[in-house]
Amino acid sequence: MNKDIKNIGIIGAGIMGTGIVQIAIQSQHHVYLYDAQQGAAQKAQSKLQDTFNTLLQKNKISQAQLEEALAYLHIVENIEQLQQCDLIIEAIVEKLVVKQALMKQLEAIVDPQTIMASNTSSLSITAIASECQYPERVAGYHFFNPVPLMKVVEVIQGLHTQPEILEQLADLAQKMGHRPVHTKDTPGFIINHAGRAYGTEALKILSENTASISEIDEILKTSLGFKMGPFELLDLTGLDISHPVMESIYTQYYQEPRYRPNVLTQQMLTGKKLGRKTGQGFYRYLNQKKQEIASTPRYVANRNGIKKVWLHTEFKDDFERLSQYLSQQYILINHEAKPTANDLIIIASYGEDATHSALRLGVNPEQVVCIDMLGNFEQSRTLMPSLVTRQKLIEAALHIFTQAECKTFVIEESLGFITQRVLAMIVNLACDMAQQQIASVDDINEAVKLGLGYPHGPIEWGDLVGREKILHILERISTISNDPRYRPSPWLQRRCKLNLSLMYHA
Ligand SMILES: NC(=O)c1ccc[n+]([C@@H]2O[C@H](COP(=O)([O-])OP(=O)(O)OC[C@H]3O[C@@H](n4cnc5c(N)ncnc54)[C@H](O)[C@@H]3O)[C@@H](O)[C@H]2O)c1
Repeated sequence: MNKDIKNIGIIGAGIMGTGIVQIAIQSQHHVYLYDAQQGAAQKAQSKLQDTFNTLLQKNKISQAQLEEALAYLHIVENIEQLQQCDLIIEAIVEKLVVKQALMKQLEAIVDPQTIMASNTSSLSITAIASECQYPERVAGYHFFNPVPLMKVVEVIQGLHTQPEILEQLADLAQKMGHRPVHTKDTPGFIINHAGRAYGTEALKILSENTASISEIDEILKTSLGFKMGPFELLDLTGLDISHPVMESIYTQYYQEPRYRPNVLTQQMLTGKKLGRKTGQGFYRYLNQKKQEIASTPRYVANRNGIKKVWLHTEFKDDFERLSQYLSQQYILINHEAKPTANDLIIIASYGEDATHSALRLGVNPEQVVCIDMLGNFEQSRTLMPSLVTRQKLIEAALHIFTQAECKTFVIEESLGFITQRVLAMIVNLACDMAQQQIASVDDINEAVKLGLGYPHGPIEWGDLVGREKILHILERISTISNDPRYRPSPWLQRRCKLNLSLMYHA
């Protein structure tokens, strides 16, 4: 099976098939394109011609490169003409029985050395290969849309897949300019699996009325550096696509609470509030343009004569950052063991709400305002008063922490700040994927950066913000809520206890 892949058969000339054709012919591979629907392959060919013409006009390719690439594409009218291919990639309809039948049909056409790969995004490779006589030559080869721009491909090992063909597929991916990431045949593979935390935790936060849709999006963008907020992303993808993915992964993992979907999206799906495509989702859209939601701030920043705060932090770096900031604002710190009855109490809390923080420290909840120190303090600040914090003290905290160059938010009580809950879930889920050996730590990090566009890989992100902070958040939320959704992964716990990087593996 170890020969070079030169001739590639692609079945299915839709969005994905056309994208894969483009990168294959641009990297000088002969492609034989087949589609069951008459004229579909020809349509893909003329679409590619248009794409190359646009690239030519933008000086991204030369006329010679355009002609050469197109000469590598051969349209075939019947599936038997794929007989000479070294590799067949199917990108047909996402239906298990149809894909199984196609693989079985192909086995009768191609020779035993031919690799048969599926671009499925949600079906099991083992199941797709299960009707084959030689399931060891079937693998997953999962590209992302748009293929030429999303430079990552999941190389998926079914239960029977021979390791050599995975290497051949990875090698080909590199020749086509894509980063191959190796993964086991598990629900969601790497990228759709690791991506579960962002949306589901944001939905849970929203359903608890912690903050508004736009506040949650804004906080996550400014504080953690996401390019899109979770609700903007759900609207872009459309709930007709994303809600079934959430449900499918949850069901396939036998109701694992970490993947629990939310009733909010089920109802919106039923009510056809799908997102951009229906003009309304979490936001309203006019001519595809998001309409901003007008809101009146609940608090107005006012120092109210406050000159002194009583500060509590659990981590040394937070104390240093906050005390330095407060002194720049000419605010004194009361270093006594207990606050006075009029002090504003600032707590850099993790994984708990302001009420729990106050009661744990034995201070008056009426004086408490918690602050999030996990995210980017220079870009964004989030405050959380308790249910009973005096208005005057909330306004004073808002005044102290509001600066022209960064955004300040005040949220309702929540077990952990928005950034803390979302990031802890992302890191924890990825650690658990590493624990299950679904993929290597390196491949999980790279796949998430390239496939989901996160600013960091999820496991390296844990190290970057402080793994002990992530563990602390999860432990606290688990203890208070008693919700197994937040239980820390053993991978994370072990490395924190041994003071090792989350990237460490023996
Ligand atoms: N669209 C995405 O964003 C995306 C991303 C990753 C993976 N995928 C997966 O890629 C595959 C294709 O998705 P798509 O979005 O390109 O679909 P599509 O509907 O755009 O194209 C599918 C093409 O396959 C053809 N086809 C259907 N059944 C066939 C058969 N039995 N034999 C030959 N041709 C057949 C259709 O005529 C059509 O041209 C699916 O498995 C999907 O899950 C899609």
